[in-house]
Amino acid sequence: MTGELSPIDKAKFAAAKRATAFVESGMKVGLGTGSTAAWMVRCLGERVRDEGLRIKGVPTSTRTADLAREVGIEVISLDEARWLDLTIDGADEFDADLNLIKGGGGAHLQEKIVATASDRMIVIADPAKEVAHLGAFPLPVEVIPFGWKATRTLVEEALEGMDVLGRETALRMNGEAPFVTDEGNHILDLHLKRIGNPRQLSLVLNQIPGLVENGLFIDICDVVVIGHGDGRVEIR
Ligand code: 5RP
Repeated sequence: MTGELSPIDKAKFAAAKRATAFVESGMKVGLGTGSTAAWMVRCLGERVRDEGLRIKGVPTSTRTADLAREVGIEVISLDEARWLDLTIDGADEFDADLNLIKGGGGAHLQEKIVATASDRMIVIADPAKEVAHLGAFPLPVEVIPFGWKATRTLVEEALEGMDVLGRETALRMNGEAPFVTDEGNHILDLHLKRIGNPRQLSLVLNQIPGLVENGLFIDICDVVVIGHGDGRVEIR
């Protein structure tokens, strides 16, 4: 499955493989999105095939749903599952309190819904994702297309009163057209550089009409599994 991997992919694979050890037969598992989560889905598929692991997976994007089916994982919707034992997902940044920035892949809305409907969220990451302060990675916020420019103005006004170092906002593009999420929405990337109070920022942003969800995951992640290029794994 791994072939010749770069050190970063070895690190992602090591984290993903270790995290799948938390999965037991009979579990309903949230399946995250992104390159690290894709390794986790492949590792779970291998266990389904080789060990007869019986799980039901709830994907957080159409990309992950397609991959999960391809590797033989039974896919169900969150409505069918209602509640999950575990979600395993990647992250763009995590801090010492295990708060996260997610949404680099544009899937943070479904990812947050799935993670908060789970008994436990395990994040899988390479060491570059660990930060002293969240915010170097642009914070994604999902906005509905209707009136998105007005929503952006409200976001920029809200940022004026926030403890952040940068205040640039950018509509995420896919070539010449705005990026469209699985829910049919757009993404604004907020270039904040450093977020002084992530909890307050998350609450303020989610008050804005037209803003569906921001990419800050506060008090949602329980465990971070960090993989290294030499195959070592740390658990926080
Ligand atoms: C997608 C996400 C991803 O988990 C995050 O972007 C990390 O991706 P990768 O594992 O490819 O670095 O939040 O919305």
